[in-house]
Amino acid sequence: MGDDSYKTETKKVEYSRGLEGVIIGESTKCFIDGEKGYLAYSGISIEELAEKSSYEEVCYLLLHDRLPSRAELKEFSEELKAYREIPDDVYREIRGSVRYGVHPMAVLRLAVDRLSIFDEEAEIFNPSANYRKALKLISKLNTITAVIGRAIKGLEPVRPRQDLNMAANWLWMFKGELPSKEMEKIFDIILILHAEHEINASTFSARVVISSLTDIYSAVVAAIGSLKGPLHGGANEDVIRLLEEIESGVGNGVSVEDIIISKINKKEKIPGFGHRVYKNYDPRAAILKKIAEKIAEKDENIKRRLEIGKRIEKVMIEKLAQKRIYPNVDFYSGIVMSYLGIEPRMFTVIFATGRIVGWCAHILEQLKDNRIFRPRIIYTGGEKTYISIDNR
Ligand code: ACO
Repeated sequence: MGDDSYKTETKKVEYSRGLEGVIIGESTKCFIDGEKGYLAYSGISIEELAEKSSYEEVCYLLLHDRLPSRAELKEFSEELKAYREIPDDVYREIRGSVRYGVHPMAVLRLAVDRLSIFDEEAEIFNPSANYRKALKLISKLNTITAVIGRAIKGLEPVRPRQDLNMAANWLWMFKGELPSKEMEKIFDIILILHAEHEINASTFSARVVISSLTDIYSAVVAAIGSLKGPLHGGANEDVIRLLEEIESGVGNGVSVEDIIISKINKKEKIPGFGHRVYKNYDPRAAILKKIAEKIAEKDENIKRRLEIGKRIEKVMIEKLAQKRIYPNVDFYSGIVMSYLGIEPRMFTVIFATGRIVGWCAHILEQLKDNRIFRPRIIYTGGEKTYISIDNR
């Protein structure tokens, strides 16, 4: 180079660590007011959707930016149902990978990759083929995750049913028995709450990958890989580990508060707390906490865990008030999922089961007005001269 161009070139653009505050495009899918703790999918508040809607209806809303008519919802749900079956080879992939003790999220990543081989439209890129692939992914991922849930316990898969909605069908495939109406409703709400969340790390990953105009499966595989991490969807699993650690540590004069304060003092991150965008209570956490409170009335284990959870929340909010740290979606979701008989290593997989629609909605939106993502990075490596290998 011989001049300072390497120093100045990348300083022409603003640098934001972790892309904080950077706008990467426009979207009609989701709005978050982090100051107020407000969340809406395509304009409708999450509280209303959790109370009045269904996961299928939310899927339609996110893909079409409007609520369906009764007839449209019926047709849409039927189309999703028609895609429920997965190829035998995907079952084998799942069974094969669980043998090696692979994390369920890694199994999911492998299974979705394998699924792409059996989609004859995988490399057809017109809008209607892309939309169909989105529906196939939403429907088949639901089956795949239930199969993973059984496979990790050494159980044979249970085939999907055509007479159940997505929430009930998932619980049927996972447990091999029909869920109660209460369980079905709770699971439906879990799927709704995880369906979409603006441009988080996994959704951004999906948009970055699809922006090269590769296939949708590649983008979803990338999103699954991103969601798996403990700073993102993986935190829900860590919350239960924290609760277990506290349950076994409390006593002998040590309190929940002592344990949390000691972790804060050691600068440990407490899973299920904090958020890049929310500087107030995550509305999804508030909904899940209410559900946990309701089920705690009839389940002693949930009650005990919830008590601990609330004490952690209190001390976190008090101690980290200046940093405006509140519970996020991952904090109470595990407590609720455990009521449904879902074990911690499956929590992030359930997150993905709901989020698949958000990823697909963003992928289709990106494709409508695509420009490849190609940011810059500041070079800090200095200038060096080439020294021949004999002289190094
Ligand atoms: N526990 C303790 N302190 C925290 C926590 C936490 N959970 N979260 C943030 N802080 C502190 C940080 O230590 C930092 O303090 P400092 O300024 O003194 O260094 C400050 O708050 C800002 O935190 P950052 O890590 O810079 O925030 P960022 O926006 O980069 O990260 C994240 C957000 C990853 C969610 C972070 O809060 C975290 O690691 N939380 C725990 C993991 C978790 O729950 N992830 C799930 C997020 S929601 C989701 O993806 C579904």
